[in-house]
Amino acid sequence: MSIISTDISKAVALLQAEDVVAIPTETVYGLAGNIFSEKAIKCVFETKQRPFFNPLIVHIASVAQLPNIVSYIPEKARLLADAFWPGPLTLVLPKQSIIPDVITAGKDTVAVRVPNHPITLKLLQQLDFPLAAPSANPFGSISPTTAQHVEDYFKHHIKMVLDGGACQRGIESTIIGFEGEAPIIYRLGSTAIEAIERVVGTIEIKNKEDIAPNAPGMLERHYAPSTQTILTDNISEAIKNNTEKRIGVLAFSTGCHHESIAFQIVLSQTKNDQEAASKLYDALHQLDKQNLDLIVAELLPDVGLGKSINDRLRRATVQP
Ligand code: TXA
Ligand code: MG
Repeated sequence: MSIISTDISKAVALLQAEDVVAIPTETVYGLAGNIFSEKAIKCVFETKQRPFFNPLIVHIASVAQLPNIVSYIPEKARLLADAFWPGPLTLVLPKQSIIPDVITAGKDTVAVRVPNHPITLKLLQQLDFPLAAPSANPFGSISPTTAQHVEDYFKHHIKMVLDGGACQRGIESTIIGFEGEAPIIYRLGSTAIEAIERVVGTIEIKNKEDIAPNAPGMLERHYAPSTQTILTDNISEAIKNNTEKRIGVLAFSTGCHHESIAFQIVLSQTKNDQEAASKLYDALHQLDKQNLDLIVAELLPDVGLGKSINDRLRRATVQP
């Protein structure tokens, strides 16, 4: 029997009973539990097989709840919250003492956001606690952007996926922390750097990739298909080097013809980076199901959401 349902009151009841429910957001589906329930949070970590040193994002219903979660709000954090919430931007700020250590992995900061999805906002408004929600995928694998993706992963582990349709943004929130009063990007995501800079001025990026740009082995393997995947800015060339293989292609805007190509997805024929982001993970899920020997993925132009998509593709192609 399917665990997918649109019944918000059932999700409320399960969450109040310290159970875990997968919820839709505008970015990806999350695996949600009451931040104050040790039982629920333990279940989130166990279901995902996520290491305990990796902290969770707290989801709240509105910016008005922020002072319950964090003890200090720098001026630029306030500007960002006002500009982008509800939306795909997460702020990492000093935590209030009531936030449990399991949520923050013992850190004195907490990650928090107001998601922009009508069903999950309605759900949060009916609960008297915030929800911790990491992406609803086993640790390291491709994030889910439909209720079906979550069911395929966790049908035997959780009782319910709250169905909110396909996620409109399609990649995770952009994460911003602070060094003193200065904002720093910790994770590229669905809010483009250019949009952030229009609100707070030039911002530094400390994505892990930037620390070791030429050492792919240093990257954390994440968002990864189980099929071997390579990244290129020249699809034809990559195919020529692998003609004996059954190849799947993930192209940005223009498809490619070659007899070795068994399956192909074009993310946006109009070169729209938002359309490409919204289709990215579903494309990887589909490609991974085709019994391919190799996926050849094309890098996007490195601007706007192209930067965030390239970041995900780089992590997806780190060898295990
Ligand atoms: O779009 C999203 O952000 C989705 C949806 C479900 O909201 N959630 C998500 O969660 O991507 P997750 O757990 O897959 O990624 C959360 C990231 C992790 O890389 C974690 O290390 C970072 O947030 N994080 C959480 N708390 C932090 C903290 N206090 N300091 C630095 N990084 C933190
Ligand atoms: Mg994740």
